[in-house]
Amino acid sequence: MRVLSGTQPTGDYLHIGNYFGAIQQYLAFQEEDEALYFIADYHSMNSVRDAKLRREYTRSVAIDYLACGIDPSKAVLFRQSDTPDVCEFMWLLSTVTPMGLLERAHAYKDKIAQGQTADHGLFAYPVLMAADILLYHADVVPVGQDQKQHLEMTRDIAARFNHTYGDDVLKLPEPFILENVAVVPGTDGRKMSKSYGNGIAMFASEKVIKKAVMSIVTDSTPVGDPKETNTTLFQLWSLFATDEERDELFERARKGGLGYGDVKKDLLRRLLDFFGPMRERRAALEARIDVVEDVLEAGANRARMLGEPVLAAAREAAGLGRAL
Ligand code: TRP
Repeated sequence: MRVLSGTQPTGDYLHIGNYFGAIQQYLAFQEEDEALYFIADYHSMNSVRDAKLRREYTRSVAIDYLACGIDPSKAVLFRQSDTPDVCEFMWLLSTVTPMGLLERAHAYKDKIAQGQTADHGLFAYPVLMAADILLYHADVVPVGQDQKQHLEMTRDIAARFNHTYGDDVLKLPEPFILENVAVVPGTDGRKMSKSYGNGIAMFASEKVIKKAVMSIVTDSTPVGDPKETNTTLFQLWSLFATDEERDELFERARKGGLGYGDVKKDLLRRLLDFFGPMRERRAALEARIDVVEDVLEAGANRARMLGEPVLAAAREAAGLGRAL
């Protein structure tokens, strides 16, 4: 089974919701399956307009992923713009993509609804995403709920291409919705998300992390009273505890006498322990950009190798270039 997913380099810090919600799944996939993870720097051109920043953000995602344990000997990690074939492939797909399909895309519709004008790049975004996925014959695409529509469009576009040029040129991918595995609450109790500003950053300074942990919402139950354990603080704490530890703490909470402040302090300690090795690896990688670039280069070579036959078959099916 081939698994593929992409991340836009937009300069966002990684929070523990990203880790438990997505990256941990990526790590599991690389053990069991053929996994391809790429940094979608072409996609980022719709929002990031500064060349220096794009390079910085792109490297930053690569460093984050390697620090978290994406292992180049198991998974293919690459930068989208190192595989420009995807742009040619996107054209082939564009010609079978109805305007109406793209007009229904949430990202585009939202922008128009806000009274903004959209560039063609934003309008065509789902076609590039379809090209990312279909170029590698991906079987499974792990994404957030917000990308589900893009996956449906990808399947639609693939089916249209196949219908037009030959039944088994492209493979229809299955979505793997990450929210079905884990939704991590943010410090305010809503889903952890950078847009809510309720994240706990895993690579920030200890001071910043401490501040976020201490700001987790709790109710005003007095220390001595029994506590409800189905709450944000206990949910977050449980991410870093074994089942036995959790049962024990929840028991103490129900009896009363357990203070929220102490749970937060313990959560902070556990969190820093858990992410400690990743934080160290990240600092080491920051100082070795050459190593990171080598990983991306090797990843791109592998990705190009996997994509070339698919593009060749699509060109052949469509009667492009000299016949094979
Ligand atoms: N659109 C995705 C996002 O914003 C990023 C992305 C681009 C992607 N190409 C992809 C995700 C292909 C999965 C597969 O999150």
